[in-house]
Amino acid sequence: MKKFYQFLMLMTVSSVSLADGNLMPIKVPEKVKSECASCHMVYPPAFLPKDSWAQIMSGLDKHYGTDASLDPQSIKEISQWLNQNAGTYKRVSSAPPNDRITESTWFIKKHRKISDSTWKGSKVKSKANCMACHTSADKGNYDDDEVRIPK
Ligand code: HEC
Ligand code: HEC
Repeated sequence: MKKFYQFLMLMTVSSVSLADGNLMPIKVPEKVKSECASCHMVYPPAFLPKDSWAQIMSGLDKHYGTDASLDPQSIKEISQWLNQNAGTYKRVSSAPPNDRITESTWFIKKHRKISDSTWKGSKVKSKANCMACHTSADKGNYDDDEVRIPK
């Protein structure tokens, strides 16, 4: 497990300075916090390739079944940050289905032991709800020590 965590760190090392064991770039712009963390937490940009972020940012009016439209200036600012911090490691180099972190091959593999009933249970509800199990996910921490599956 340690190894995998290290590979995730490597994904971002080229473009971002990282806090200790942390996948979130140290500086998350206010714009991102206000516009991309109202419905869910800010997902670490390193989990998706540039292509996926570009797709997501160009289709905010139809954002996974909801309308997350923004003004052009905000789109520009947020896109820049996502682009600069996007994943570059081989395993995130091509866009996953639906530009979802949760449909990426590595994600499926890492979570294969989790049962359907856990995913769908009232405490989790969705794979995209990282915080349900990774208690410090909003800080970019996915270390095994911080994982707990809610009962
Ligand atoms: C109006 C609410 C809302 C806003 C604002 C919003 N999102 Fe989302 N987002 C959603 C919903 C709903 C989903 C689907 C969650 C699920 O499947 O459980 C989602 C899913 C995602 C996913 C895919 C998660 C996965 O399954 O891997 C990404 C990536 C994402 N959002 C990025 C962003 C970014 C970047 C912004 C800011 C530009 C943003 N979101 C703003 C509602 C929102
Ligand atoms: C139902 C609980 C649950 C949810 C929700 C969940 N995870 Fe996980 N995740 C786990 C468990 C359990 C592991 C395996 C921990 C271990 O290896 O001991 C794991 C492992 C990981 C790992 C590998 C960590 C390592 O060091 O090997 C990453 C990265 C990760 N998850 C990211 C995410 C992201 C991103 C989301 C949301 C989009 C998410 N997870 C949602 C439970 C969850």
